[in-house]
Amino acid sequence: MLKEIQQQPTIIKNILDKQLSHINLNKYEKNLKLINNICIIASGSSRNAGSIAKYFLENILNIPLQVDYASEFAYKDPIVDNKTLIIALSQSGETADTLKALKIAKEKKALTVALTNNKNSTIHKTVDVALEVMAGEEKSIAATKSFTAQLLNLYILGLCMSKILNTLTDTDYKTIVDQLYQIPEEFDKLIDNLSSYDSFAKKLKKYSHIILLGRGPDAGVADEGALKFKELTYIDANSCPTGEFLHGYLAFLDEKTPVISILPPDKIVCNLALNNTLILKEKRNPPLFIIKPEGSKSFDDDDIVSQNIINLPDCDKYIYPFYATVCLQILAYKTAMLLDKDVINPRSLTKVVAHE
Ligand code: AGP
Repeated sequence: MLKEIQQQPTIIKNILDKQLSHINLNKYEKNLKLINNICIIASGSSRNAGSIAKYFLENILNIPLQVDYASEFAYKDPIVDNKTLIIALSQSGETADTLKALKIAKEKKALTVALTNNKNSTIHKTVDVALEVMAGEEKSIAATKSFTAQLLNLYILGLCMSKILNTLTDTDYKTIVDQLYQIPEEFDKLIDNLSSYDSFAKKLKKYSHIILLGRGPDAGVADEGALKFKELTYIDANSCPTGEFLHGYLAFLDEKTPVISILPPDKIVCNLALNNTLILKEKRNPPLFIIKPEGSKSFDDDDIVSQNIINLPDCDKYIYPFYATVCLQILAYKTAMLLDKDVINPRSLTKVVAHE
């Protein structure tokens, strides 16, 4: 698994080099110009990638986007028509719930796109536009490199759509592409610094419960981080949007339930997330772990949090989830190793959930 985590800089670079020039949606120009809503259908980690990308895609396309659990979509009589773009996300391309949801969307005449890591898969062959995630074979059951590859491909799909829909200026498009190209270098730095995560993992391994909090796209990062901790360490890790946590959830917090709070680059939201975090510290006194952009507020004078801070690169708020995700992958992996867990084949998990 560590090897797969470490492959991410190269994979990201390859995807950018190939997909930005390769994805061609011209054939669907007419259909895309009709689209007035987008729905991502997926399960597990794939759904978490969708929850993060939603913010970027809505921002650059100006089209409302919802993210549905594939297992729920299939049985709710979804409101879908030929003005709906369905994006099915599935690393395996064989998840039964996602396939079922996709078939229903097709019956209702939606335009369908799939991102899979297997071009021979059923989902890949079922859709109008099939895109390869290009993460390479992933041996570990829990997704790491396929997750960031999927997220990046979603961003690239959005950029390709923006060209057809004319929703970005050339300058904005170029700025985003330049920011994406910085990811491999920053990933390298994160991965070179693996040992800096040891002290955090040593602390986290002692607990039975962990809470992860994030706002905006980082709420999806918190979801994926919690899933990684559950899958790899079997610790009861749960996530919640930071602000929402104050609405009842904090009642069960105590001094034995650490909170990992992801603070975003956006200054206003960062302050909100920090205030939310300090409120729960004041009320229930959990051990705090803060993930934050390097250049944001310094906590040097603040004993409450200064012990447990992970600094990430300063960057755009839509790029930051890539770094926060890898940071949590490393943290979950390291904690699992200290607990002597089998990170390649965690208990009860399979790469493909082939039943509904
Ligand atoms: C492996 O356990 C994954 N973390 C799991 O949540 C997976 O993402 C989910 O089963 C969906 O799989 P898919 O992406 O292959 O459709």
